Amino acid sequence: MRIFAFAASLRSASLNQKLIQLASRLAAQFGAEIDLARFHEFDMPLYDGDEDLAHGLPEGARRLKQRIEGAAALMIAVPEYNYSIPGTLKNAIDWVSRARPMPWRGRAVYLLSTAPSPVGGIRGLWQTRIPLEGCGAIVFPDMFALPHGNTAFDERGMLREAASFERLVREVRGFVRFAEAVEPLCCSPPPEADAKRRAQEIAAALEDESELQPGTAQT
Ligand code: FNR
Repeated sequence: MRIFAFAASLRSASLNQKLIQLASRLAAQFGAEIDLARFHEFDMPLYDGDEDLAHGLPEGARRLKQRIEGAAALMIAVPEYNYSIPGTLKNAIDWVSRARPMPWRGRAVYLLSTAPSPVGGIRGLWQTRIPLEGCGAIVFPDMFALPHGNTAFDERGMLREAASFERLVREVRGFVRFAEAVEPLCCSPPPEADAKRRAQEIAAALEDESELQPGTAQT
């Protein structure tokens, strides 16, 4: 199963780029094939309805659309700007949403964020869910927000704090299982015989891995 991954930051020293690199390495260990991009590969103008009508998607948005379509799932590390989604990412989501068939529809998405602040960008992730879900993406319930991102990584790009690293490992493993289970929604029709098994796998992936609703063994 192929996962397209990028950090929605254009900064060369991006903390979110470090985070997506680490999450990508982990997802590969859990069996996913990773397509890791830099956000600069998709530079595009601000959305303009007249341009859209006259010429369709600009080059950067077309490249982004193709990379999304080439994968069954996405992982996106998103900086928090003023408690919300960066305008650059919202603009990219808006342009890509004009393509048909809708590229986001049915694709599993895992959201991560880091910031130097003690909350690690979680407020921006809640805002990021809204347009993605509006476009039909299936956003994984767990979101990974890493506080103090400026000191959290060691020189090898690993997390210094064991508890944070263990949480990331658990969430990435859960996401890969979830994305495999929901892959037929975007990428191939499920064979009739598989449908029931997949429904059970989706429920199990959510229940086993989610921290939101821990099972009785953990409470
Ligand atoms: C920020 N930053 C920030 N951090 C935060 O925790 N909450 C916030 O609301 C904001 N708002 C904000 C707005 C703008 C315009 C900028 C430029 C920055 C700080 C931000 O988290 C920090 O610069 C991160 O390092 C950005 O992510 P990358 O580029 O390192 O991945």
